[in-house]
Amino acid sequence: MDFKEIHFDEIDSTSTYIKNNFDKIDQFTFVSASYQSCGRGRNSRVWVSNKNENLMFSFSIKDESLFKLYKNISLLSSYILAVTINEFFGVKKTSIKWPNDVYIDGFKIGGILLESHMLDDKIDGIIIGIGVNLNQIVFPSDFKYPVSSLKLIFGETIDIQQFKKIFFNNILKYFIKLKENSFIDYITFARENNYLKDKEVYATINNFKKKVKVLDINDDCSLKMLIDNNTISIFSGEITFH
Ligand code: BTN
Repeated sequence: MDFKEIHFDEIDSTSTYIKNNFDKIDQFTFVSASYQSCGRGRNSRVWVSNKNENLMFSFSIKDESLFKLYKNISLLSSYILAVTINEFFGVKKTSIKWPNDVYIDGFKIGGILLESHMLDDKIDGIIIGIGVNLNQIVFPSDFKYPVSSLKLIFGETIDIQQFKKIFFNNILKYFIKLKENSFIDYITFARENNYLKDKEVYATINNFKKKVKVLDINDDCSLKMLIDNNTISIFSGEITFH
């Protein structure tokens, strides 16, 4: 299967574009941009990215058998980005910061924003927006986490078109696999390359921030952690280092 792409030289946000044109854009049509004037990150943050240097795109999932697997899709998307980077460079360097950031050598390389699309108070699809730092070498100094790019890490300029082609094809391939109930490679990968494993971090759950120790990722994609000597597992929430 070949992928379909709509590319913008400049747009407010590829995810906002899909949200506003949801019915007109087919599932798995990739909407990409060379620059976003209003890029959005998780937890109402902005996603800032220099023009022509990085990869920014969004696509939608409308098939209910897929989008009901919301938590799995979150981890699956980060897995696809992580294995695409490993495949592109022929290395095994990526790890996953639950639920959906990709890290290399302690630096965030890419992030994923999952949003539900609603029709009459019911979810009728999800929009997945992905930003990957490919060739940017200067970043604003006020990031909440250490950030880097593939160029800074691997020391070479990345051909954006080539990277994009491998990534889009992997998305199609692994989402088809997700429909097979037996496909669990992404959970195994996230567990074996769990950036948070054994780290003492902060979990913000229902606006309440607490120091925790991360233990593992469960088979149901939730994050297992120790809080005040109690073991709990969470399906959503933000994990921060400070
Ligand atoms: C995060 O780590 O906070 C998620 C970042 C997601 C950024 C991407 S870039 C393409 C798409 N359009 C947006 O406005 N956001 C996502």
